[in-house]
Amino acid sequence: MPTKNCQLHHSKGSDKESYVSSLLAKMTLQEKIGQMSQLNNDAEKLDESIQKGLVGSVINEVDVIAINRLQKIAIQESRLGIPLLIGRDVIHGFNTIFPIPLGQAASWSSDIVELCAKIAAIESSNNGVNWTFAPMIDISRDPRWGRIAESLGEDPYLCSTLGTAMVKGFQGNNLSDSSSIAACAKHFAGYGASESGRDYNTTNIPENELRNVYLPPFKAVADAGISTFMASFSDLNGIPATGNKWLLNDILRTEWRYSGPVVSDWESIPQLVTHGFCADKESATFEACDAGVDMEMASDNYAQHLISLIQNDKISIEQIDTMVSRILKLKFDLGLFYSSFTESPSSTVHLNDFHLSHAKQAATKSCVLLKNNKQTLPLSKNTIDTLAVIGPLADDGYEQLGTWAFDGKASDSITCLSAIKDYVKDSVDVKFSIGMETSRSNNDDGFDEAINIASAANIAIMILGEEAILSGEAHCRSNINLPGYQEELINAIYETGTPIVLVIMAGRPITLQPILPKVDAVLFAWHPGTMGGPAITELLFGEECPSGKLPVTFPRAVGQIPLYYGQKNTGRPPSEETFVDINTIKTKAPQTSLGMTSTHLDTHYSPLFPFGFGLSYTQFDYKNIKVSEYCVPMGKSLKVEATITNTGDFDAEEIVQLYIRDLVGSVTRPVKELKGFKRIYLAAGQSETVIFVIHTDELAFYDRQMKFKTEPGLFNVWIGGNSDTELKTEFEVFCTEHDEKI
Ligand code: NOJ
Repeated sequence: MPTKNCQLHHSKGSDKESYVSSLLAKMTLQEKIGQMSQLNNDAEKLDESIQKGLVGSVINEVDVIAINRLQKIAIQESRLGIPLLIGRDVIHGFNTIFPIPLGQAASWSSDIVELCAKIAAIESSNNGVNWTFAPMIDISRDPRWGRIAESLGEDPYLCSTLGTAMVKGFQGNNLSDSSSIAACAKHFAGYGASESGRDYNTTNIPENELRNVYLPPFKAVADAGISTFMASFSDLNGIPATGNKWLLNDILRTEWRYSGPVVSDWESIPQLVTHGFCADKESATFEACDAGVDMEMASDNYAQHLISLIQNDKISIEQIDTMVSRILKLKFDLGLFYSSFTESPSSTVHLNDFHLSHAKQAATKSCVLLKNNKQTLPLSKNTIDTLAVIGPLADDGYEQLGTWAFDGKASDSITCLSAIKDYVKDSVDVKFSIGMETSRSNNDDGFDEAINIASAANIAIMILGEEAILSGEAHCRSNINLPGYQEELINAIYETGTPIVLVIMAGRPITLQPILPKVDAVLFAWHPGTMGGPAITELLFGEECPSGKLPVTFPRAVGQIPLYYGQKNTGRPPSEETFVDINTIKTKAPQTSLGMTSTHLDTHYSPLFPFGFGLSYTQFDYKNIKVSEYCVPMGKSLKVEATITNTGDFDAEEIVQLYIRDLVGSVTRPVKELKGFKRIYLAAGQSETVIFVIHTDELAFYDRQMKFKTEPGLFNVWIGGNSDTELKTEFEVFCTEHDEKI
């Protein structure tokens, strides 16, 4: 149970403003700057610094005894007894690891995502953590970028919806509840646009694109009451985000009225010097502080340089007071002034049955079925005598956890191999061969054994992909094919003639085109977390029906990147009629014979799998799309509906998606924009009419003058099972005389 602090006890309901200002009035300048400093748990003289009131937050301590000890020093031994923020990257689970965020996004389920975050908060807060650096809501359209794994994908609407759900999960109804932790919107902003998908790289994003694509998820979580923001490492249009006053002050605080603290990223303040934006660390301190970074993560520039900047009138004490009070208010909201210790952590919280069952559920709903030739899946244990399970990711509890799983243990994972064996028991003879030592191995040493077991089996389940270290921070790839000799391994197993079910675990889209014809079924499982094995097994054997949909476009070839569904039309859009495959032209050809459209000569312009795509064991038929009215006055709503029928044999869930296109805009608009989705359940043979309500405000965008408004005119609207759907109708938004006058 949490206990009360010794020196600064207050009752709930006391006024935050007056509490914080009276505390501020007692603080020395050093103590104020101390609140603005976050130190790593291995920092030199950490205890002494806390005792002197020089630390506001500690990052990376997760041991409950150690955290209580640090809190005790802060509360009982420092002059003012101000408790610590204890920060940790609780990204997709704490001890119970859920699918990576990109996988969770494939569930298209706010409920699933919210509960993953809630459980992560319950487990981490039980150890004394009170602040996570999640959700990462960087729009990610470049799968080479390793951090796409931590993202919620390419789409502003999906990312805003699921990002908000994560915030609700972490923060709960009340931040002061003992199982709530503060969330952090990161990385503000534009980090996902890092050039060439190389981490920490430059981003150049025109303001219109920034506002229409990259900022909406941040605005959504700010509106939803997120407690903290993190400034990005990256350089945005020449001004690194950590020193970008326009971004951190003009947009975040003035336009959006966000009032919580902003933390830097790890050493991103001294990196302003490395960027070539500041000549020295003192000027980096000035730029970050003046831009609005309230707390410095890991480095000590605020501690070193703020005093002289204040003495030289570069930074005012009022500025400092405002920044410190944001941090103190967060501590107040978290209830830390009256309950900062976790005295008796519950032993039944971590990895309990409920948490594990949700981890299985989340992994199940995140898997995306990409191919299922001749209904290879689901498998039946009654018709299989021998099963070959092959691949370096089949029985590796660590790799299935993915990136940013600091507090998850490999030994808590249930792997595919063990889950399959457990499921089929003695009815099927399961043989295993790793095939390759790691996903990156560049040799065929293990191929013979894999070929032997596949040759003798009815089915080969190959569990391949990327190890955890191939995605995440600073783990980018210039090629996004299956690494190492995995394609060769698939080719070798294909030669045996045994049907292949390919399960991919990966932190990003993989260019599967070269091996797609060789395999009968593909289930894309991302890095599925602790319970990945049972979730995948139940899907493979039809205990569950796949229902995940891609939150990101899968390209055919790396050269197509960036490739996303919400692209602009261009003046010369490609089409099936004009597309010419260069490989089919054997003779010399004049340039004009090649179509003259916006495409590559050596690959089709379409993706391998579009955004929103995912198969099921059943089929869904979409028909009768209708709008409630064709002419919609500005400021009103319309209904759009379609009837969906489960025409197959399996009861299943389907994610029904609604897209619009604003045909003419004062700035060009994307060819499709997601504006709604619903996960529905349909028993075999059942139909449902799904109705979406769209208000004209939801059609708004930033125009040439950066005004956010809906423009009148014609809109196309589609309802379907992926972004490539053709079931379409239209409506027109018109202005009333009243609108025209204002
Ligand atoms: C750097 C990463 O960019 C950020 O996302 C993370 O929260 C911090 N390090 C803390 O680990």
